Amino acid sequence: MISKKMQDAFNAQLNAELYSSYLYLSMAAHFASMDLQGCANWMQVQAQEEMVHAMKFYNYINERGGRVLLKAIDAPATEWDSPLAVFEAVLAHEQKVTALINDRAAVADAENDRASQIFLQWFINEQVEEESSAEAVVRRLKLMADAPGGLFMLDQELGKRVFTPPADQTNANG
Ligand code: FEO
Repeated sequence: MISKKMQDAFNAQLNAELYSSYLYLSMAAHFASMDLQGCANWMQVQAQEEMVHAMKFYNYINERGGRVLLKAIDAPATEWDSPLAVFEAVLAHEQKVTALINDRAAVADAENDRASQIFLQWFINEQVEEESSAEAVVRRLKLMADAPGGLFMLDQELGKRVFTPPADQTNANG
């Protein structure tokens, strides 16, 4: 059975993942309103992935005999100054999520909860990828600052991103 401290930490992370999904959906809507459909697609896929992250916490809390307690999700921003500003906000958000995951891992260590340490390992690895993919787009946008047409090409490319559902949806521990 999961400890109260661990349960609280995972419920807080579940809320953070739901907020992440909400934030990226807001970014998708922002891009759709600018007719940057590829960027909007990238953000929609990102929002779906965050729902997968949220459900991993949901399922894990239940599996460990804990209680999922949903709280209000903060309203995300709705407007950004430029495509670069949006992706910089993604990167900053993912860096924040990495810090949150590290905090949850510290709780698992303090509680001597080996199962939770192992469960969190997936997220520790995932955050490396999350930061790296956001950073890659930020770099591209900075490089193309003076190249008209670059944004159009990038938009086409980001439009190709496809959501891949997790292989095993019933046991979402990995
Ligand atoms: Fe759930 Fe983007 O981290």
